[in-house]
Amino acid sequence: MAHDAKPQPATARRSPPLSGTARVPGDKSISHRSFMFGGLASGETRITGLLEGEDVMRTGQAMKAMGAHIEKHDDEWVIRGTGNGALLQPEAPLDFGNAGTGSRLTMGLVGTYDMETTFIGDASLSSRPMGRVLEPLRQMGVQVVQAAPGDRMPITLRGPKHAAPITYRVPMASAQVKSAVLLAGLNTPGITTVIEPVMTRDHTEKMLKGFGANLSVETDERGVRHIFIEGQGKLTGQVIAVPGDPSSAGFPLVAALIVPGSDITIENVLMNPTRTGLLLTLQEMGGRIDILNPRNAGGEDVADLRVRSSELKGVTVPAERAPSMIDEYPVLAVAAAFAEGETVMQGLEELRVKESDRLAAVANGLKLNGVDCSEGEASLTVRGMPGGKGLGGEAKGEAVKTHLDHRIAMSFLVLGLATEKPVTVDDRAMIATSFPEFMGLMTRLGAVID
Ligand code: S3P
Repeated sequence: MAHDAKPQPATARRSPPLSGTARVPGDKSISHRSFMFGGLASGETRITGLLEGEDVMRTGQAMKAMGAHIEKHDDEWVIRGTGNGALLQPEAPLDFGNAGTGSRLTMGLVGTYDMETTFIGDASLSSRPMGRVLEPLRQMGVQVVQAAPGDRMPITLRGPKHAAPITYRVPMASAQVKSAVLLAGLNTPGITTVIEPVMTRDHTEKMLKGFGANLSVETDERGVRHIFIEGQGKLTGQVIAVPGDPSSAGFPLVAALIVPGSDITIENVLMNPTRTGLLLTLQEMGGRIDILNPRNAGGEDVADLRVRSSELKGVTVPAERAPSMIDEYPVLAVAAAFAEGETVMQGLEELRVKESDRLAAVANGLKLNGVDCSEGEASLTVRGMPGGKGLGGEAKGEAVKTHLDHRIAMSFLVLGLATEKPVTVDDRAMIATSFPEFMGLMTRLGAVID
């Protein structure tokens, strides 16, 4: 794998105005789920627009190892699934590389099978907490045969003869945990219930319904969601067009806002309201972002985004918004570095358990590049420098540490497009996990990155 190789640094430099039209790759969350649900369903699933990043390919390999047939014909992925309840025990450990979503959802998917499955990953994934998924699985009767201290990978699960349906209240705002329990419910007799006090991305619910699962959602008077799934029903293959990933769109979007004179359009971006927190925040900061051609495609809202360089102002981002932009804080912090005044981001506790401790990684990278910021336990405050004067780190000769985290690498390369001095990151390799086209797409828009 690329990330076992020698680190490949990259440097971004102050760039001329960005211009042109771009399409970001398919949404990562939907792509993982397309492979999983297609691999599980009876009959054929056809997918276009799939993100062909390393993380999603790992999920595809795992589904193949458990009996799904997955092939690519021209631009289309064609899957013949096993049928719900008919996954096979894999012959070797499932290696999920860097992918938290792939591994946690698959633990749910196969945990309740009467078989043994081992999960391994890279150094970043092996340091991430898996107890949040193992805890509800244990309640359903799943045995954790092996785990590293702190419920970390490598992990071996052994399912019970018959799993027990549970009612589970998700203790943190996590779509991965919610999804893992729902997927475990697919192979469990009766009704499994997930209570979600804070709404997170709802791709699992929407897509499972599309595949024919008996799933319903009730929202009570306090806004708490109760999700019910009936196990052991039939899933039927679907045709899926994956829309562009709003999390990936965040990088060219912020780049165009901060590089003076820029005017770009990003086409076909997913606009599901559980994913649009960054857009809202940047608009509140004064970002000139026009939402063009809003439309519905395959059950999801999508639109094109025209973005022009803007004079940004600091804002306070409320904690309640975090679930709808959880992966976008690193790049928002970059936008904040060029805003007039202070941007305060709250409710960031989950950032500490992403591909890296993103709160620390962002604060350290910003400080290294002369950006005035302070890191709290679960908050980040950035005091911006419009025009980027004096910012950038090359002079110190020290690269930003990316800690095997794709979004840290991309965020700091965006920073360097508008700082006075260049910005270097220690390793670009992990970008391939979610956005393999990043370098080409950005340089075609006019960004200077080498
Ligand atoms: C995801 C959920 C989020 C997000 C991740 C994708 C998903 O993780 O950060 O990139 O597809 O369900 P958490 O569930 O840990 O918040």
